[in-house]
Amino acid sequence: MHQAVLTWAEEHRRDLPWRRTRDPWAVLVSEVMLQQTQVARVVPRWHAFLDRFPTVAACAAAPVGDVIRVWEGLGYNRRAVALHAAARMMGDRVPDDLDALLALPGVGPYTARAVLAFAFERAVTPLDVNTARPLVRAFGACSQADVDGLVPEGRAWDWNQALMDLGATVCTRREPDCDGCPLAPECAWRGAGPDPAAPAGRQSRFEGSARQGRGRLVAALRRAPVPFDRLAETTGWPDAPDRAADVARHLVADGLAVVDDGVLRLP
Ligand code: ADE
Repeated sequence: MHQAVLTWAEEHRRDLPWRRTRDPWAVLVSEVMLQQTQVARVVPRWHAFLDRFPTVAACAAAPVGDVIRVWEGLGYNRRAVALHAAARMMGDRVPDDLDALLALPGVGPYTARAVLAFAFERAVTPLDVNTARPLVRAFGACSQADVDGLVPEGRAWDWNQALMDLGATVCTRREPDCDGCPLAPECAWRGAGPDPAAPAGRQSRFEGSARQGRGRLVAALRRAPVPFDRLAETTGWPDAPDRAADVARHLVADGLAVVDDGVLRLP
């Protein structure tokens, strides 16, 4: 089964820019961006980010407002604040140790293992919806130890990139292409019975959400400070000033904005 996956990947691997580097900083940046943003949207932003902050030290030396500005177009802006804080904690290099990675702000079990596998070739698997699906369906894996135990010796990079592509393009949530899947001959599930990888829930509505208001306000702050009396309009809720103020307070609490003489601005 392992060889079938690795052979399939040789032919089908997507050519993505962060797959052309093993630089741990570049890998970490890609994985933080990919946590909640689609590949196509990440590609240009990843290049722009690394042009501006080519090293951990370059990011650590910048004010966090610069990092929030370069995050434009990615959404979930708290990730920019966390990545900057992580750069300051790291100082000059990304650690190659699971516990040290997990201690960084914004780095959870998925991102820590993605860095270990994609930058350091360690035998671990970052579990996200795409990597988990083929592992759960085909191998019946159900724990981090199970999936880490499946990584073929010395092939952590190939194996995990292959799982990402399998899960994203073949072993999809609905209507998987089992005919095109290298695991199909031995897959424990193969479309029979209830899906062991069935999703738990759906992402909630964006339109009208606090996340939408926060996004609008951060977008405005990237260009200029926003006076308090413009908060309601800027969030898109001219009739809900209390709600707008609440969003502003959250941005301050999250380190995405500071209050300064009657205006809200980037830190
Ligand atoms: N999503 C998260 N990490 C990825 C990677 N390395 N390649 C493609 N999609 C991803």
